[in-house]
Amino acid sequence: MQINYNLKPASERRTEQFEPAENVGFGNLRTDHMFLMDYRDGEWRDPRIVPYGPFEVAPGAIALHYGQSVFEGAKAFKHEDGEIYTFRLDKNAQRLNRSADILCIPGLDEDKQLAAINALIDVDRLWFPMQDGACLYIRPFLFATEDRLSVSPSEQYTFCVILSPSGPYYSDGFDKAIRLLISERFHRAVSGGTGASKAAGNYAASLKAGKAAAEYGAAQVLYLDANNKQIEEVGAMNHFHVCKDGTIIIPTFTDTILKSITSQSILELGELLGCEVRQETVMLDQFLADIEAGEIIEAGGFGTAAVVSPVGSYIFEDNRVVTVGDGEVGPHTRRIYQVLTDIQKGKLAAPGDWVRLVPRLAPV
Ligand code: PLP
Ligand code: COI
Repeated sequence: MQINYNLKPASERRTEQFEPAENVGFGNLRTDHMFLMDYRDGEWRDPRIVPYGPFEVAPGAIALHYGQSVFEGAKAFKHEDGEIYTFRLDKNAQRLNRSADILCIPGLDEDKQLAAINALIDVDRLWFPMQDGACLYIRPFLFATEDRLSVSPSEQYTFCVILSPSGPYYSDGFDKAIRLLISERFHRAVSGGTGASKAAGNYAASLKAGKAAAEYGAAQVLYLDANNKQIEEVGAMNHFHVCKDGTIIIPTFTDTILKSITSQSILELGELLGCEVRQETVMLDQFLADIEAGEIIEAGGFGTAAVVSPVGSYIFEDNRVVTVGDGEVGPHTRRIYQVLTDIQKGKLAAPGDWVRLVPRLAPV
């Protein structure tokens, strides 16, 4: 793929890295450039890197009205050799295409997605934050641009990638367990719907539930299946729990659960973590009884943004609270976080090609 570079003049671009102590937060900053590519007349064309900024979208663009839009979330890390490495980006590229398929959006060759992201990171590599635990958060997205008000798949799309230099998700350390609202009112997905995709609309539909969670002092909602019997996932994370013998259980992937790349990594890491990791259907009643009986000792969420999010308690809509273990961050959860982040930062050997070097290519 021949990428066309239209870069900002050097004088307007970042020339230095951040101060080590500078806390840049998560998802707030943007780099100097973005990658764009358009789908016209049945093919993806015009791959280009241009200055970050607003683009023109027709007021009648299908994405704005009918939500034909999907996205991904991935991360790149700086290793001790000073180079930047992406984490399992091939999995994100595959999943973007699965999400696209669910929303009738034409897929984009995975190698082209990876080449686009590598080229963009390369151009904006000076935006890598220096803070310990920092990363470049990568946000690729695909959306329908055809100006038409009838409801059918668009004939035109844009693929865009933006980067957000981000600090560690937990700015005050990995020490606070969150509370989740277990809701019987709100549902994220139903079988046959779009739950297994990263469709923009799934997140729009989670906003009301997120507000309700905040009213209960909870960070997010833990969604149940449509019959309120099974535990599914959190709004932007998969769910997991740890049994007394150290076994980690993640609810089985279905068409109402996003197939988390973090969860898949933990499943594949099992041996390195020194425990069994498996998936099964998790029934809410049994889950609560097992917490009560001390059979379940820790719980949390897995996701790219949050990495591992320890859960200390659950609250129900009748204000009943169920505390997991002593409500604090447990040793198993800490260990999962440590192993995964060490792999991402190159401190622990990664299995296979989980981490891949971002080549230095650009005419800087
Ligand atoms: N589930 C949902 C609904 C999400 O939005 C995310 C975040 O991407 C996840 C799970 C975690 O997936 P991953 O680990 O691939 O980031
Ligand atoms: C991620 O974890 O990368 C996500 O995409 C979650 C996001 C909605 C913040």
